[in-house]
Amino acid sequence: MESQSHPLARVVVTGGAGFIGTHTVRLLLEAGSAVLVLDDLRHACGEPVPPAAELVTADISSPLAAAAIARYRPTGAVHLAAQGGVNRSMQDPAADATVNVVGTVALLKALADAQCRRVVFASSGGAIYGRARRLPSREADRQQPLSPYGAAKLAGEGYLGMFGRTLGLRSVAMRYANVYGPHQDGTGEAGVVAITCQRLLSAQPPRITGDGEQTRDFIFVHDVARANVLALGSRVQGPLNVATGIGTSINLVASTLAALAGQPSVVEHLPARPGEVRHTFLSPDQAAAKLGWRATTPIAEGLRLTFEAFQHATKPPTATPAP
Ligand SMILES: NC(=O)c1ccc[n+]([C@@H]2O[C@H](COP(=O)([O-])OP(=O)(O)OC[C@H]3O[C@@H](n4cnc5c(N)ncnc54)[C@H](O)[C@@H]3O)[C@@H](O)[C@H]2O)c1
Repeated sequence: MESQSHPLARVVVTGGAGFIGTHTVRLLLEAGSAVLVLDDLRHACGEPVPPAAELVTADISSPLAAAAIARYRPTGAVHLAAQGGVNRSMQDPAADATVNVVGTVALLKALADAQCRRVVFASSGGAIYGRARRLPSREADRQQPLSPYGAAKLAGEGYLGMFGRTLGLRSVAMRYANVYGPHQDGTGEAGVVAITCQRLLSAQPPRITGDGEQTRDFIFVHDVARANVLALGSRVQGPLNVATGIGTSINLVASTLAALAGQPSVVEHLPARPGEVRHTFLSPDQAAAKLGWRATTPIAEGLRLTFEAFQHATKPPTATPAP
């Protein structure tokens, strides 16, 4: 690391035990950063935090987390910890806001108090733009979230601006598209790639809501982790889409994974979700211009890597032959 005050020198990663967090922590360690993971493990992805990183098990809004930050004196932070379920946020918007708004504000205050000057925030392109008037969505487009989760991410971006103007905590809000890859939770309500991998590996057909021709901008998690590290080390401020700029249909995702599983594409169809956005994809041009970043993993390769990782994770250990 160039200097002890460089943003990449000592980095706090909240949610570092989660899906995007584990990949980001690994890349930061490879880049030579010292890393403190702050995660209460409520939704840890199961990959152990690397021994080279320190783990403090705490809620981001707790005094324990603030004390850990004060002691660590981070030069930079990647804030990934969140309540990540859109459906859950609809059922209990206040619980969502407790983590995603109040938790974020408490964390930003602790970082500012510790003289941290740089933070990368996990926002959501999928949830912030809402029903876009034109595609691809760009950072300057109107933000009209349709869920409490999206509203909370937008509120987080508002607080980032304030902490920058008033307290000198410079930040970039990464508006991720639909992130997929190894270690994603395949048991939950969201993450069609992970859920489909799990279903195929337990001999269940892919499940598709509606006709499957709805499109999403699927971005591989390695590309996202790389964008996080580049953004932390840069001087860029404000929102940035982290996306491929390509819409891929759910049917294509399901048929590609079914082919990888060697299973005939029998698909289980569920009724379309009322009010679901039909098409979304985001322009990555700002990230390319400001960070020199572009996604480099084509969807076919990303799906193959993801399926193989799930396959490996679910494989029973080979029995040792009896002597
Ligand atoms: N996965 C996606 O497609 C996607 C898309 C857009 C934005 N995001 C955002 O990216 C971030 C990371 O997403 P992910 O998919 O890795 O989620 P994840 O659920 O896998 O990881 C989140 C981690 O945060 C931890 N956590 C949650 N609440 C906490 C709290 N109050 N205190 C401490 N730790 C807490 C969990 O234990 C978990 O390890 C989130 O902010 C999410 O909203 C994700």
